[in-house]
Amino acid sequence: MKICVVGTGYVGLVSGVCFSDIGNSVTCIDIDERKIERMKMGESPIYEPGLDELMKKNINEGRLHFSTDLAEGMEGADAVYIAVGTPPKENGEANLAFVDKVAEQIGENLKDYKVIVTKSTVPVGTGKRVKAIIEKAAGHSNFDIASNPEFLREGSAIKDTMNMERAVIGVESAKAEALLKELHAPFNTTIVTADVETAEMIKYAANAFLATKISFINEIANICELVGADVTKVAEGMGHDNRIGSAFLNAGIGYGGSCFPKDTSALVSIAKQAGYDFKIVRDVEYVNKLQRFKIVDKLLEAYDNNIANKKIAVLGLAFKPNTDDMRDAPSIEIIEELQKHGAHPVGYDPVAAENAKKVINNLKTADSVEEAIQNADAILLLTDWDEIKNLDVAKAGKALNEKIMIDGRNVFDPGFMENQGFYYASIGRKTVNGKRVTS
Ligand code: UGA
Repeated sequence: MKICVVGTGYVGLVSGVCFSDIGNSVTCIDIDERKIERMKMGESPIYEPGLDELMKKNINEGRLHFSTDLAEGMEGADAVYIAVGTPPKENGEANLAFVDKVAEQIGENLKDYKVIVTKSTVPVGTGKRVKAIIEKAAGHSNFDIASNPEFLREGSAIKDTMNMERAVIGVESAKAEALLKELHAPFNTTIVTADVETAEMIKYAANAFLATKISFINEIANICELVGADVTKVAEGMGHDNRIGSAFLNAGIGYGGSCFPKDTSALVSIAKQAGYDFKIVRDVEYVNKLQRFKIVDKLLEAYDNNIANKKIAVLGLAFKPNTDDMRDAPSIEIIEELQKHGAHPVGYDPVAAENAKKVINNLKTADSVEEAIQNADAILLLTDWDEIKNLDVAKAGKALNEKIMIDGRNVFDPGFMENQGFYYASIGRKTVNGKRVTS
C-alpha cells in the first residue's frame, strides 16, 4: 500500500516509520526543509529510542521517503494521514489552524480516490470539518474521510505502535473501512470500528481516563500521608483487580507532557461547547496542578520553611524518562517555585537539559548527577530515569551538605533511606527524619 503522512512530529513520524516497516511505501511530508533533509539521512529530529535505526533500515530498503512536496507524496497514495500539531489555545480549545491548512492543500492536490485519515488528536466533529474543506478545495467528493487516533507514548513509541493493543478506525464507508483494516492487518491487533465522531471521542476519553487514574492515586497518596498508610501498597492491592488494573497508579508529582494536559483541557472545552460541565475532568486538572507544588512544600518542611540560598540538586527535568520533551513538564513550575523561595536549583537530565534551559529562566544545569549533588543541600528527584534510579545513595550522602532527599517518584524504599541516615520524604509514604550531615 502507498501511504502519505503529513506532519513529522512524534505521531506522524513514528506512524510513518512503522507503516513502512510493515511493508508499505510511505512518504512523510513536512514544510520544514532542514528537518526533511536530516530525516532523508535517517536522522530523527526527536529523541525516541530505536527511531533512528528503524528510519535508516526502511530508507535503505526503499520504503520510507521524505519530502516537502505534498503533491509528490500524494501521487498514487491510497491513504493520506493528517498528523500535524493541534496546540492548545489560551482557552484550552485545540487550535485547528494547521489541520485546516493541510486539509485545504490535500483538496487542491486530490485527483483520484483516497482515504484522508486524521491521526492528530482533534475535537469531535473535525472529521466533518476536514471533509467540507477538502470538498471545497478539490471541487469533487471522490474521497473518504476517516479517523485513526494514536495511542503511542513518548519514550516507548515504536514498541507501542508495533505492538498496539488496539487500532481504532472511524469510518463513513465500507471502502475506507476495508482499506484501513488491510493497512492494520500486519499489526495483528484488535480493530475497533466506529463512526468518525466516536473514534475522535475514544482518543479523548482514553487520555482523560488515564489522567483521572493519576490524579485519583495522587489524592489517595495525599490521604495516605494524613492517615499513615502507604500508597504504593494501596496501588498494588487495587491493581490486582482486573477491573482496575495496575498501570497508571504511580503516585508522584502529577502528569505532564504534550498530551494529557492538552487533551484534558480540550475535552472540558468540547463538553462545555456542547452544553455539558465535565466536572470530574475539571477536578483531575485541578488536582494535577496542586500536586506539583507538594514536593516543594515537603522540602520547605525539611528546612523549617526557609530554603533561601540552598543549593538544590534537581534530578530529572523531562516530564518522564526516555524523552527530551519539556512540554508541560512539572519540573518547570517546581524549579520556578524554588527560585521564588530564593533557593539555587541545579538541574540534571540525561537528555532534556538543553530544552529545559529554553523554557526555565536562569536555570543552572550540571553535566552529571555527581556534579549536581556535589555540595547540594538537598536532592529533589523529579524524573525516574534509570540512571537516577540507580543512584549510589551512600556515595550521594557523602557528596551532599545535608542528607536530604525529596523523592517525587517514590523510587527509593523509606526503610533503606532511613538506614542510610537520610531525611527522606516521598509521595504518600512515611517520611523518614534521618540525621543531617552538618546541622
Ligand atoms: C500519553 C498516553 O499514555 C498515550 O497512550 C497517548 O497516545 C499519548 O499520551 C498521546 O495522546 O499522544 P505520553 O504523554 O507520551 O502518552 O506519556 P505517559 O507515559 O502516558 O505519561 C504522561 C504523564 O503521566 C507523565 O508525566 C508521567 O510521569 C505521568 N504518570 C504516568 C504518572 O504520574 N503516574 C503514572 O502512573 C503514569
